[in-house]
Amino acid sequence: MAAELQLAAAEGRRVAPGDAETAAFAVRGMTVSYGPKPAVFSVDMTVPEGSMTAVIGPNGAGKSTLLKAALGLQTPLAGRATAFGQPVTDVRDRIAYVPQRASVDWGFPTRVIDVVAMGLYREMGLLGRFGARLKARAADAIARVGMAEFADRQIGQLSGGQQQRVFLARALAQDADLYLLDEPFAGVDAATEKAIIAVLKELKARGKTVVAVHHDLSTVTEYFDRVVLLNVRKIAEGAVGEAFTADTLRAAYGGRLAAADLPGAVHAI
Ligand SMILES: Nc1ncnc2c1ncn2[C@@H]1O[C@H](COP(=O)(O)OP(=O)(O)OP(=O)(O)O)[C@@H](O)[C@H]1O
Ligand SMILES: [Mg+2]
Repeated sequence: MAAELQLAAAEGRRVAPGDAETAAFAVRGMTVSYGPKPAVFSVDMTVPEGSMTAVIGPNGAGKSTLLKAALGLQTPLAGRATAFGQPVTDVRDRIAYVPQRASVDWGFPTRVIDVVAMGLYREMGLLGRFGARLKARAADAIARVGMAEFADRQIGQLSGGQQQRVFLARALAQDADLYLLDEPFAGVDAATEKAIIAVLKELKARGKTVVAVHHDLSTVTEYFDRVVLLNVRKIAEGAVGEAFTADTLRAAYGGRLAAADLPGAVHAI
């Protein structure tokens, strides 16, 4: 495997930048390993500006790892990521990232308004002053996700779905150009899911780019215009109509999918 990883590293270097220069987000030759086996292997992905892309794959497929490595939060063995043609680490202020909820420590005593304000820390003054203008922006983002009445509540005292809304509000307050969201709909009720998708579609309508790790195969066609199917390696990538098919899903999930989950299946209610 070591030789194979080295080969991937070499391939990562060989890939020409090509459309990565114009893409809102591009990953080239990304290989990440926590141990002897890679969690993400030689993955390329290209996200056009103004698109909404779902990253799909079974548990343990490396979806979160891919995002973290692209953001520089996890050191890859090989590969690189760019946003708007520049290394991601150079344009962090144009990128909002919402981690998978399970990975966040909810124990620290912080109010909703403070969590959202953290999204604005780059714009605070040298003394860390949080002026009226920024306060209004944080409050506006909280209102947009329907959490205005909870602004002063400790985040540890919110339900899972409410916490998810708060993290989305933090990303919104940042007013980024690229949104990387790790399972924004995990564990939320139908009303919250509708509220979140409305916010994301509004971002897209304003020309922003959204990439979301997504598990619910039944809503992919309705919510997203592009998909990346991942299972350590990239299985497929492209417009939903072309890349999200029974064949690519079977390749990504193996025998773990029921026929009813495949695109085109009629869902009995
Ligand atoms: N910090 C870590 N240390 C060691 N192994 C890890 C670590 N984080 C993830 N892994 C392993 O790497 C693989 C990919 O994990 P990752 O969290 O990226 O998967 P995922 O596709 O996001 O899964 P899920 O759908 O469950 O969120 C898994 O086998 C996981 O056990
Ligand atoms: Mg994950």
